[in-house]
Amino acid sequence: MLSYRHAFHAGNFADVLKHSVLTLVLDYMTRKEKGFHYIDSHSGAGMYQLSDEYAQKTGEYKNGIAKLINDDNIPEALQPYIDLIKELNPSNSTGELDLYPGSPGIAKRFMRRQDSTHLFELHSTDIQHLTDFCYRWKKVFVKQSDGYQGVLGLLPPPSRRGVVLIDPPYELKEDYHKAVNTIIKAYKKFATGTYILWYPVVKRELVDSMKASFVNSEVKNLLQLEFCLSDDTDEYGMTGTGLFIVNPPWQLAAQMNEVLPYLKTKLGNTDSNFTVEHLIAE
Ligand SMILES: C[S@@+](CC[C@H](N)C(=O)[O-])C[C@H]1O[C@@H](n2cnc3c(N)ncnc32)[C@H](O)[C@@H]1O
Repeated sequence: MLSYRHAFHAGNFADVLKHSVLTLVLDYMTRKEKGFHYIDSHSGAGMYQLSDEYAQKTGEYKNGIAKLINDDNIPEALQPYIDLIKELNPSNSTGELDLYPGSPGIAKRFMRRQDSTHLFELHSTDIQHLTDFCYRWKKVFVKQSDGYQGVLGLLPPPSRRGVVLIDPPYELKEDYHKAVNTIIKAYKKFATGTYILWYPVVKRELVDSMKASFVNSEVKNLLQLEFCLSDDTDEYGMTGTGLFIVNPPWQLAAQMNEVLPYLKTKLGNTDSNFTVEHLIAE
């Protein structure tokens, strides 16, 4: 039984990192005329209303996107993401946000006629929202089925250009292993794709075991980004957020070296820290 609903967390500090990186990756892909495939294994609802009961109950976006949206000193690399949120909220000059895009909402902004989008989602309510969100979006394929299997079934994409986002809820501990294993298997089928894997920092040993699985695999060219609000702890709760990115755009590490110190200042505190590390060379 699935209980995770991303609506509670939309626009929080983890979304800021994940979605700003997704924006930079998709922006980079559209610099070439040739079409590409975007595959989202765990899509969520597509778009979120920050005024609804879910987002208001946790208020997580208030220590995320809401703190950045009207800042005058946005780093250049974060600007495309901020512009996208502003476009969705044209009348919110006071910083009161109404809409926040999920990963399909970010993708929709970038995908062109020559590109194809494949979205997987299991939850019976979110698949309905996602299907409604995709109405009139051409070349998008939405499926209520397992995203891990879905990704593997679509690779290699006919265009031989692709971005895969794997963003599980980690409700089940097996997600840590499954997510990395899916990328390792996917890489064997399509080694030139860009893969983005999101993870929470809840228990450091789980992140370490993901890292070790990558390092012991055939995967090359792996970047790790992490932003922790506080030091690791044995207590319950998420202290940080991270991404593993296989075949990142060449300038992404430099861009995140500009973005992460800014996020630490705006969203973090003196205990906060970040990592930009090229874990496996090309
Ligand atoms: C973290 S949320 C996704 C957020 C979304 N990627 C975004 O950035 O806006 C994870 C989603 O995965 C869905 N889910 C859980 N297990 C799944 C599976 N095996 N295949 C596809 N979707 C799954 C959940 O219902 C939830 O909506």
